Amino acid sequence: MIKEKFELNNKIAVITGASKGIGKAMAQGLAEFGATVIVSSRKQEAVDEVAKEFTDLGLKADSIECHVAKHDDRVKLVEKVIKKYGRIDVLINNAGTNPYFGPISKMPVNLYQKTMDINVNSAIELSNLVYPHMKKQGGGSVIHISSIEGLHPSAFMAAYNVSKAALIMAGKNQSIEWGRNNIRVNIICPGYVKTKLSAALLENEVSRNSFLKNCSLGRGSTPDEMAGLAVFLASDASSYMTGTTIVNDGGLMNAPQISMQ
Ligand SMILES: NC(=O)c1ccc[n+]([C@@H]2O[C@H](COP(=O)([O-])OP(=O)(O)OC[C@H]3O[C@@H](n4cnc5c(N)ncnc54)[C@H](OP(=O)(O)O)[C@@H]3O)[C@@H](O)[C@H]2O)c1
Repeated sequence: MIKEKFELNNKIAVITGASKGIGKAMAQGLAEFGATVIVSSRKQEAVDEVAKEFTDLGLKADSIECHVAKHDDRVKLVEKVIKKYGRIDVLINNAGTNPYFGPISKMPVNLYQKTMDINVNSAIELSNLVYPHMKKQGGGSVIHISSIEGLHPSAFMAAYNVSKAALIMAGKNQSIEWGRNNIRVNIICPGYVKTKLSAALLENEVSRNSFLKNCSLGRGSTPDEMAGLAVFLASDASSYMTGTTIVNDGGLMNAPQISMQ
């Protein structure tokens, strides 16, 4: 039955940055399809609350804090999950940041470094920690949450653009290295999703008008509109997909380059 391929029963899924926004919606989606989800973010109380919300709904959820840019936190996260559950079937590298709005020529080194540490380096290193376990257990699915900002340049999000482009290539490299171990690595590029992280873009009149003009669906998405893709990529329904970059942006990347309006 093809329908059964979407089921995530008996799968252990770790989602970073899952206390709110896209990560939380993806965690709930995976849990609704049967996975035990490990909700993770910097704050234990925040992830405890989300895990409780899920278990109150009858879903399987646990919570472990992890600041993804901290090496010790990453090691502890993986160790704790392996100790308790013995395996990790799905890793969603979702935690991300955008602390700098401005051009590349004025980008402060410390903010560039912070962006790269959280958006790229942590995702590579967390995947590297999970890799031997997935290899040993016979496979797994790693999903990186990049952005359409990793696919095109912008005049005001330089560090973020660079980091999200690098994350796409990290995922592609991992996919060729790990494919023979049945570990699939795919990348999701959301467009504009209404969360705390993206609020500044809609508050600014110029970016809001530009977005509304270019987005085919004429609106930002809700976090749960990102969750279905995560379920698909986590599940056996996508068993032949790896190294793929999937855009989910309401048609924003499809905007005509030349307009008469
Ligand atoms: N929103 C969009 O329009 C959009 C578009 C494209 C891509 N994305 C990407 O989607 C991902 C999620 O973004 P979002 O919009 O859902 O953001 P959000 O609503 O602000 O949520 C961010 C999540 O990440 C956690 N977090 C932040 N820094 C962390 C760190 N250093 N270590 C661990 N967790 C951390 C936060 O929880 P705590 O505060 O509890 O740590 C929170 O759970 C990001 O990678 C972002 O770049 C977003």
